Amino acid sequence: MHMVCIRNIKKILLRILFRNTMFAICIKHRWNKMQILTMANRKGGTGKSTSVWAIGQCLAHAGHRVLLVDADAQRNLTRCLPIVGADKHLTSVVNGTASLVDVMQAVGEKLWLVAATDSLVAAEKVLGADMAYPMLFKNSLEGLENLFDYVLIDTPPSPNSPLSVAALTASSKVFVPTQPELFSFEGVQSLLELVAKIKKNYNPGLTVGGIFLTKYSPTYRRNLHHGFVAMMKEHPELGPLVMETTIRDNVAIAEAQVQRQSLYQTAPQSNALVDYETLTKEILAA
Ligand SMILES: Nc1ncnc2c1ncn2[C@@H]1O[C@H](COP(=O)(O)OP(=O)(O)OP(=O)(O)O)[C@@H](O)[C@H]1O
Ligand SMILES: [Mg+2]
Repeated sequence: MHMVCIRNIKKILLRILFRNTMFAICIKHRWNKMQILTMANRKGGTGKSTSVWAIGQCLAHAGHRVLLVDADAQRNLTRCLPIVGADKHLTSVVNGTASLVDVMQAVGEKLWLVAATDSLVAAEKVLGADMAYPMLFKNSLEGLENLFDYVLIDTPPSPNSPLSVAALTASSKVFVPTQPELFSFEGVQSLLELVAKIKKNYNPGLTVGGIFLTKYSPTYRRNLHHGFVAMMKEHPELGPLVMETTIRDNVAIAEAQVQRQSLYQTAPQSNALVDYETLTKEILAA
């Protein structure tokens, strides 16, 4: 009787151990899967390119392999990074003459960029006329799962941009940088409508990872801004999406971007880096 009891306990313990090991393997597998994240807002100048640039640095610094894609013909992300090959850019991928791997360039340790050039304006117009345009990034990122842990796509503010639609179609999550002002608030609402359409038509797995405030701190003496933040947090749809971290206004950002260097190189002690590291942790935990 005593032996039977011990054997049963052993069996139960082994079963628990097996289940926990399988759980750990599943979690690890999920973490190892390449994640495609898009930064978007239909309002201009809210910090989309800066956030892709800074979060990319933070992820790479933490040891992840990161591919940045500049899907905006304004090419502001490209301008902030130390690119060398002017002949390597996204236009060739849009035209179907090269793959993403053909045109990516190393711009830091564990950090690569697919750059944008002026030619992207014309290429995007042609792309928009192709029925299959929403699949551009989904198709071109296929098979790269073993090369990167994260792909971050910077998108233009223009409404209905084919490249924005293609980025959202490929992504698991979209993050929305916004400033605490009326037009940004409207830009977020309009983007959420686009996200809902893309979810319905092309990418049911797309979720809004979060909305975060840029050039803002709860400690600033700007009552109008706090009013907008309160309005956003009370909004039934937007409120639950507002992230904890806010990105303060910090000149270290423009200084690093102008030198095409990272915040780790030019301003390792800056508020900008503190804020973006905190935001990156929140994104990883989301
Ligand atoms: N937290 C910040 N503090 C100070 N300056 C910032 C901050 N974030 C961004 N900037 C600056 O604000 C400007 C606009 O930022 P950014 O280009 O990232 O916005 P965007 O949303 O990508 O704009 P667009 O819609 O035109 O693509 C840039 O000059 C950038 O250097
Ligand atoms: Mg931009």
